[in-house]
Amino acid sequence: MSKRVALVTGGTGGLGEAICRKLCDAGFHVVAGYNSGGNHDKARAWQEEQRKAGYEVDVAYGDVTDAESCAACIATVKELTGRNVDVLVNNAGITRDGQFKKMSWEQWDEVLTANLDSMFHMTRLVVNPMIEQGFGRVINISSVNAQKGQFGQTNYSAAKAGIHGFTKALAQEVAAKGVTVNTVSPGYVMTPMVAKIDDAILDKIAKSIPVGRLGEPAEIGRIVTFLAEDESAYITGADFSINGGLHMF
Ligand code: CAA
Repeated sequence: MSKRVALVTGGTGGLGEAICRKLCDAGFHVVAGYNSGGNHDKARAWQEEQRKAGYEVDVAYGDVTDAESCAACIATVKELTGRNVDVLVNNAGITRDGQFKKMSWEQWDEVLTANLDSMFHMTRLVVNPMIEQGFGRVINISSVNAQKGQFGQTNYSAAKAGIHGFTKALAQEVAAKGVTVNTVSPGYVMTPMVAKIDDAILDKIAKSIPVGRLGEPAEIGRIVTFLAEDESAYITGADFSINGGLHMF
């Protein structure tokens, strides 16, 4: 059998890159979905960087907020790999932080569309082939802030909490068909998204993490890869917290 195909949306970003690398190490044919504002050169440069570091990763353009663009992305993956997507990692996401009393509709809508509607667009395209082939892994990246809420993130916390509802419902629908659906909920991890937080605020957050540091992207990649493996067939509908003890429940 040719290698299983793993598509990681937002694959060229902070968490995405680490997830791609761990999946490569585990023997998957990895495709990084990217949007990068349509900057294809940037994605190709990223791909070259990975190659130099010893990681063979394909790249496929797709805007996860747009159904047609997602369909084109999946078609590209099929062309590049000759297989259906075996593992979908719904990782693409954005923040537009701000207190709710000052939040605009655009801030709300952009976050809900990119972080939650994207689950529908991408998963809808891969779930039937997964059911037909009797194997599939859908791994959705949520956040500690879905579980505990966060000042300044009503939009993000709502979208990310919605992701786990989606996971649990879909997991029940496809469990008998060899397809598992799980959520991974990272805490504060060293990525460009977290680096955008004001230094003083981030410092305060970091000090409140029991493990005493921010997470490393590779630590998230590790658990995603574990869930992607054939041997993880009995894990479904679960939410994996990986937050250095920031939130325990
Ligand atoms: N609890 C209560 N009050 C708080 C607070 C908190 N956690 N944080 C700030 N405030 C208060 C301040 O004390 C201040 O009060 P006063 O006006 O009475 O002095 C007020 O809020 C400041 O409000 P402003 O709207 O003026 O502040 P701002 O616009 O400069 O910043 C913010 C608001 C952008 C939301 C900022 O608080 C912030 O960045 N917070 C962190 C948000 C965060 O954690 N984002 C995570 C991004 S990374 C990610 O999302 C990945 C992941 O999954 C973990």
